[in-house]
Amino acid sequence: MIELRSDNAAGVAPEILAAVDAANTGSALAYGGDELTAHLQEVVRSVFEHPTARVFPVTSGTAANSLALSASTPPWGAVLCHESAHIITAEGGATSLFSGGAVMRGVGGPHALIEPDELRAALESVRWGDPHESQPSVLSLTLPSDYGTVYRPHEIAALTDIAREFELRVHLDGARIANAVAALDCAPADVTWRAGVDVLSLGATKNGALSAEAIVAFDDRIAEELVYRTKRSGHVTSKMRFQSAQVAAYLTDGLWLRLAGHSNQRMAELVAELESLASYGVRLAERVDVNMAFVELPAAALDAAADAGLLFYRMDETSIRLVTSWQTTADDVTTAAATFRAAVAADA
Ligand SMILES: Cc1ncc(COP(=O)(O)O)c(C=O)c1O
Repeated sequence: MIELRSDNAAGVAPEILAAVDAANTGSALAYGGDELTAHLQEVVRSVFEHPTARVFPVTSGTAANSLALSASTPPWGAVLCHESAHIITAEGGATSLFSGGAVMRGVGGPHALIEPDELRAALESVRWGDPHESQPSVLSLTLPSDYGTVYRPHEIAALTDIAREFELRVHLDGARIANAVAALDCAPADVTWRAGVDVLSLGATKNGALSAEAIVAFDDRIAEELVYRTKRSGHVTSKMRFQSAQVAAYLTDGLWLRLAGHSNQRMAELVAELESLASYGVRLAERVDVNMAFVELPAAALDAAADAGLLFYRMDETSIRLVTSWQTTADDVTTAAATFRAAVAADA
């Protein structure tokens, strides 16, 4: 079996397990009062080059998004996001629950990225001050997008400038932000606060952590709300030191970027192989910027590839999503490519 369904299906990176093991000595104050959580705070400030950033460990990406957003919007607010964003398509309305009623509004744009003109048009069409309409209060961007595409730092800044004109705050869903930072080869600050982001959902689980994610608030008012909101939603865990140890290890000495760079590289190799099968009707449905590819292939070839042991997510009869992870090996790529090649050739 070759695992290409999701990076969520991968295991825990050995370096992260070692950090949990190292944290497992003696006792420590509960609920984040421990030294490892204090250390994580310093690590985050250093990695993001932001002296007052505040970090809140949580246990899932959905929790990070919905709590970060609920701390940024009033209950009558609207969160603007791309129409394909995870917060609007796949979180069961968690943001509405935690915010006490805020809604999500989809904005369009090619490659699953918000188009600045569409954002401006959406904001200009609002009946501001009319209580019959939810009032846009936050712009939520996703990096990389749910289709594996990335905004460059200046593209994020262009969108956050528009958001500021209309007094919106800005949230970044960074469930896979390491993959984007590795692909862009930029500073983490360049795609976050320096580009106008107020609060970040910092993913780690998909890239090797064990149910450990974090919210990073660059805005102190959002941080103050998070103090209470994380507690009330059950995310101030008693043994937080084990989450903090993971996220700190993840961000230290570039581990997060090494793991993400590895998965990006494996996907680039797989994509090169798939591109060589164009004459068999294999086509990339979206550009590939990180560790995720959307591919169209003949239905019979997909059935054959699945029967041969490739694990992938089937979007419909003839299209699939492939995701590599920190765990994907060069041999996995070779075997997957050979399996696809044999499947399309048999169907030709
Ligand atoms: C872009 C994005 N954001 C958020 C999430 C939510 O993460 P979780 O499944 O940990 O709640 C996911 C999960 O796949 C995701 O892909």
